Amino acid sequence: MAQNGVTALRYVGLAVPEFEAERRFMGGAWGLKETEAGSDLAWLSAEGSSEPHVLRLRRSEQRRLDVIAFAAADEASVDAMAQRLGAAGVKLISEPRALDAPGGGYGFRFFDLDGRPIEVSANVVERAARQLDRGESIPATLSHVVLHTPDVKKAVDFYVQHLGFRVSDWLGEFMCFLRCNSIHHCLAFLPGPPTLNHAAFEMRDVDEMMRGVGRLLRQDVVLGWGPGRHVAGNNAFSYFLSPSGAVVEYTAEVERVDDATWRATTYAPGPDITDQWGTGSIDGRGPQKLGHAAIDPGLWQAPPI
Ligand SMILES: [Fe+2]
Repeated sequence: MAQNGVTALRYVGLAVPEFEAERRFMGGAWGLKETEAGSDLAWLSAEGSSEPHVLRLRRSEQRRLDVIAFAAADEASVDAMAQRLGAAGVKLISEPRALDAPGGGYGFRFFDLDGRPIEVSANVVERAARQLDRGESIPATLSHVVLHTPDVKKAVDFYVQHLGFRVSDWLGEFMCFLRCNSIHHCLAFLPGPPTLNHAAFEMRDVDEMMRGVGRLLRQDVVLGWGPGRHVAGNNAFSYFLSPSGAVVEYTAEVERVDDATWRATTYAPGPDITDQWGTGSIDGRGPQKLGHAAIDPGLWQAPPI
């Protein structure tokens, strides 16, 4: 396991042609809060989170994943990681430096094994999180991202070796869940052409998740899969399609893991494992309703910002 690994997931950056519609949706019905925006870039926070932002949207004709950002413990850890990645032949996009995003901080970017831009930062200025009201049913924080990769084992090895992730569980050799703190997973891999599968936002419990689901259904947002509860991570799930076609999830009650005692399980993939309540796929819903993975056109290209 790598020393000085990452410590948390910070934010996801998406480039979308439907910039205004995506801003309105994510900052409106979805329940994030736009904290800063220009004509082509918008930053959204989760009100219950002290991260300055959990989502960055950029106006672009090309739909792509711009960046996935992780936290490091401190600047020395950022420097050590950048040096270690460079020495291992990983292509850096930028050396460690002061960041000019809201919240600032000190960080660098690199391309992961499939060419996804990844950012690692420390000393970001936290925002004042708000104590959500009971039943408010908006995301408390960003939970996890799931990515497609041509070789899941190789991707897992990369993130374990270079960023200090630990394997929490496997579904056969098909899907792997990775953690970088006590949360069961903030990252997972599925087979397929390199692209984002979905980004998940955490509600505080199933009751609030269901209230959020109801709020979206009343606004005719497409519920693709759910509500249900996965076995790996034991989290409740509900997957929706955003106006840009991105798959976004409300999740709740993701398992917390004790590093000292946790042993990874390999579950045999099957309907009872992906949906232990058996409620997720009624009325034609299911993963197939969320679309098919197509290669991200932004691989190996640094986003302009
Ligand atoms: Fe998920």
